Amino acid sequence: MTAMLRWGILSTANIARAAVIPAIQAATNSEVAAVASRDAARAEAFARQLAIPRAYGSYAALLDDPQIDAVYIALPNSLHHEWTLQAVAAGKHVLCEKPLAMNAAQCLEMAAAAEAAGVMLMEAFMYRFHPQITTAQTLIQNGGIGELQHMHAAFTFRLTNPGNIRLQADLGGGALMDVGCYCVNVLRTFAGREPVEVQAHAAWHANGVDERMTGLLRFDGGLTGQFDCALTLARRETFLAAGTEATLELPRAYLPGIGDTIVRVRKSYSEESDQVIAGVDEYRLMVEHFAGCVHTGQAPRYSAREAACTMNVIEALYRSARTQGQPVAVLAC
Ligand SMILES: NC(=O)c1ccc[n+]([C@@H]2O[C@H](COP(=O)([O-])OP(=O)(O)OC[C@H]3O[C@@H](n4cnc5c(N)ncnc54)[C@H](OP(=O)(O)O)[C@@H]3O)[C@@H](O)[C@H]2O)c1
Repeated sequence: MTAMLRWGILSTANIARAAVIPAIQAATNSEVAAVASRDAARAEAFARQLAIPRAYGSYAALLDDPQIDAVYIALPNSLHHEWTLQAVAAGKHVLCEKPLAMNAAQCLEMAAAAEAAGVMLMEAFMYRFHPQITTAQTLIQNGGIGELQHMHAAFTFRLTNPGNIRLQADLGGGALMDVGCYCVNVLRTFAGREPVEVQAHAAWHANGVDERMTGLLRFDGGLTGQFDCALTLARRETFLAAGTEATLELPRAYLPGIGDTIVRVRKSYSEESDQVIAGVDEYRLMVEHFAGCVHTGQAPRYSAREAACTMNVIEALYRSARTQGQPVAVLAC
């Protein structure tokens, strides 16, 4: 294994161009070696623009390249399962975009395949690598807001392009799959356990995907978590933890950018404090963590099996939303 993890990029996706390729190129232990597209000319143009040494006209051709150690999969959600399995079979470590797959069963199959092949697989939920998350968790665990009884997560934005993958049901689109998955993930993370039951209501797009969803997660011990996600609303990306003594808020919980961000604790409207968290590139921290795990052989901080727990909740939320908010039990994870 070389000191620099040699990455191949599957697709010319916007997120690869805007955030993850720059993060790999800036990382101390990684380099982008190749990109693949369904279209050779698109791959070549993309490679030229982003200073990537090699370009391939098919994903399979990149997986055949022995000079690639790991792949970053930035494909539509419905293709994550298939291409993770192919990459793992080719002996590549895989960082795959969120949500890891279309359902929990696929996540578990992908995790088992990676374990059998002896390669790393991690879901690219980059927000978890931002220090504001660990700061907030530590503060709550140390009693900084009293007893945590309720949480709220929101991730909304307004999608204007009707051809976007997020509006295609067969590509795994929908608000819950795209941005609601962050809300489910953050609620599970701060609860420190899995919800036992969920309820949801959705507004459906003509294409059959949910364009907006509101959900309730009920945890053992009386803890509750609400969320709303949308492809039709002005940008919000908040997390709030309500305790008996104070409320903790992350005003920019998922995509804070590289500027400073804050963890706000409010005891009352006249007593609130903001802890400033110095700006970082959360994508770069994720890439450096993953590459470090490959180099040392340590398991990634977040396992692919954990991604199945998020999908269990998402599947239950969809079942509830399709039955006008009927309570749905969440399968044990
Ligand atoms: N972590 C984050 O911050 C973040 C942010 C945005 C999106 N994401 C995730 O990243 C993934 C990609 O999202 P994106 O918005 O970047 O997507 P996008 O710009 O639409 O790109 C998707 C790419 O997939 C390839 N593709 C293969 N089959 C396709 C098909 N049937 N239809 C459309 N494209 C197809 C295309 O590349 P080629 O034509 O070159 O093969 C396309 O450029 C999704 O899983 C999404 O959830 C994560």
